[in-house]
Amino acid sequence: MKQNIPFTKLIMQWYRKNARDLPWRRTSDPYSIWVSEVMLQQTTVNAVIPYYQRWLKEFPTVQHVAKASEQKVLKLWQGLGYYQRAKNLHKSAQIICQEYDGKVPNTAEGLSKLPGFGPYTIGAVLSIAFDVRHPIIDANVRRVIMRIQAIEGFADTSQDKKILTFLEKALPYRHLSIFNQALMELGALICANRQAACLQCPVRTECKAYAKGVQEIIPTPKKKVIKDLHVAIGIIKNKEKYFIQKRPPKGLLADLWEFPGGKIEQGETPQQALKRELKEELDVEVILEQHVMNVQHYYTQFRVKLHVFSCQLKYNPAQDATHKWVTPRQIIKYPMPSGSAKIVEKLIKL
Ligand code: ADE
Repeated sequence: MKQNIPFTKLIMQWYRKNARDLPWRRTSDPYSIWVSEVMLQQTTVNAVIPYYQRWLKEFPTVQHVAKASEQKVLKLWQGLGYYQRAKNLHKSAQIICQEYDGKVPNTAEGLSKLPGFGPYTIGAVLSIAFDVRHPIIDANVRRVIMRIQAIEGFADTSQDKKILTFLEKALPYRHLSIFNQALMELGALICANRQAACLQCPVRTECKAYAKGVQEIIPTPKKKVIKDLHVAIGIIKNKEKYFIQKRPPKGLLADLWEFPGGKIEQGETPQQALKRELKEELDVEVILEQHVMNVQHYYTQFRVKLHVFSCQLKYNPAQDATHKWVTPRQIIKYPMPSGSAKIVEKLIKL
């Protein structure tokens, strides 16, 4: 048997005793593991759990996803963000059904041809579902190894060559699922971004940053800049129906449905922005508007404040493929950005 460095055994022993009992750790089904790993990119474990459970209830197999409409797939994803992940899951499921007899490929070559499979997802599916000796690097893994090796600098992909060199020595020859998840688990529970719990760490004897006392400045701390965005939103109602429209197929929150409106520019009042946006988007004139609520929502890179007005128009816009008049019961079938979903929730209560 080939030998690993002491780090390997220590972290695997620790994981076997301390791993959280998470739903995707109770299965060896490659499809379920793939779904969990896609959801877990850019999203915390606690946020993912209910989505993962709902998803597998609705789509217990890859065939179920392949057959579903994109609207249904996006609806189940609503609130998780980074919606391209859901669209790629959907497309890949269809390819897996058509070309791989419904079985998730078990090679890097096969997986890399599927939409949404970058180095992380390939590594995660290969190692966790198929026990292939393959490294994975996510933000937790990167931080853990930068500290273990006292690699200075920002935690970004420019570090990954050094990280892979370390992992080549550290990766065990079996139980890859345990090793790779142990690295992520250590990053989540012990080797945290702020305030690493070094005294509880099973690998502190192997940690060069701990030895030098530099664990708090490795990786280099980043300043977070959160932008504030103000948006004017028009609620247009006709009898019991509300007007919603589909966002363009490219760019931020692509293909999701929302109420019309847009960004309030410098020097504009929310009312002025509302009138301008409705004219630009729908070529309609607002004749009366009344402020009904404000809604805040925090996205990763920015914070939005939605200034919401109910409005009357000179002429109501017509329906087509990307513009719909819907009742409150129908509206909840449409995938919407989280901020817009909050508006709907409040409207239903009013
Ligand atoms: N983040 C990414 N994959 C994960 C996993 N399998 N368990 C916990 N957190 C994760």
